Parts: sequence; structure tokens; C-alpha cells
Amino acid sequence: MNKIFAFFIAIFLLASAAVIGLWMSGNLPGIGQGKSEGSSVLAGVPQIGGPFSLINHKGETVTDADFKGKLLLMFFGFTNCPDVCPTEMQTISLVLQELGDDAEEVVPVFVTVDPERDTPEIMAEFVAAFHPAIVGLTGSEDAISDIKKKYRVYSQKQNEDDPDFYLVDHTSFTYLMGRDGDLITVFSYGVPAEEMASKIREQL
Ligand code: NI
Repeated sequence: MNKIFAFFIAIFLLASAAVIGLWMSGNLPGIGQGKSEGSSVLAGVPQIGGPFSLINHKGETVTDADFKGKLLLMFFGFTNCPDVCPTEMQTISLVLQELGDDAEEVVPVFVTVDPERDTPEIMAEFVAAFHPAIVGLTGSEDAISDIKKKYRVYSQKQNEDDPDFYLVDHTSFTYLMGRDGDLITVFSYGVPAEEMASKIREQL
């Protein structure tokens, strides 16, 4: 692996760890104790989630209303991610396998934080590499920044001077949203597929 690449991965991992640390300690603005058990929305904690209008990996406009009645397993990242995003998408694909027929109750969603490069075509290739059920969502810069705000997602472009090969530092939580669009729980990066699947089964 080339040294510069390794360097950026190291920076990315450090930054992720810092953000997770802040998040765990409850010091990140807007996030309370989302990782607690069961219904984890605490009084006084700003709501996570809300309306959105984005473009799916087939190029169609979709809104939060299109997903009502299903559980959503949502992850935010970017298709050029060297490590965290592919790993988490693999985990989500394992969750779906683990759920078997019950997976029909869950829509796995990958939302890009890099809409500039992640066109619907690129999203289609990316999601297909992990599981046919995964819905890729992209959109305008404004629409993406709006949904990021609603899910308290942090992301920051790195080495931005290179328009093709920049990385994006980003939070790496997986959100389990209820059939009504309310947050059920947040999984931090690295939670095993079995654990996610059993949490989902509680909602069936
Ligand atoms: Ni990533």
C-alpha cells in the first residue's frame, strides 16, 4: 500500500475514533445517548431523522414517505471509502442473510455524504456489490446536507485539492429507524451482524 494512502487512512481512523469518543461521552452537539437499549429517544434529546427527498440508485426521486411501514437500516458514507463503508455494508448484508425471510421488513439504505462523485450510476454499482436489496441514496448538495443535519451526521472532505481522489472523513453509525420513521437505536461501527439482527427481530 502506498504511504500517502496509508497516511490518509490513519488520519481518517483517528478522526473517526475522536468523533465516536465525543459521541459516546454525549459531548457531540445534538446527540444524546442513542446507543442505549430499546426505545432510545430520551426527553430533551433533539430528534434524529425526519423528512427527506433524495435520488435512489435507479435515478428515481424518493422521499421518507416511500419507506413508511418498513424498518430502515441506514448508513451514511461514500463509495470511494477504502475501509469503513465497505466493511459496514458487508455487515449489513450479513444482517439481511441472518434475518432470512424477515429481511423483507427491513430496507437497508446507504446514503452518500459525497454526492459530487456518487452519482446514481456509481451508487448502483456500489450497492449491488453488497446486496441486491440495498437502496443507494444521493441527491443535491443541499438535500444531502439537510439529511446529514437531521441524522447528526458529520463529514468532512480531506485532501480536497484533488477532485478525483479525495477521501471523506465521516461518522460511521448505522441507524435503525422504525416503521413510523422514528429512531429505534444507533449501532456504532463494528457491532456484529448477529447483534443488529436480534435488535431488528425485536421490532418484528
Ligand atoms: Ni466510509
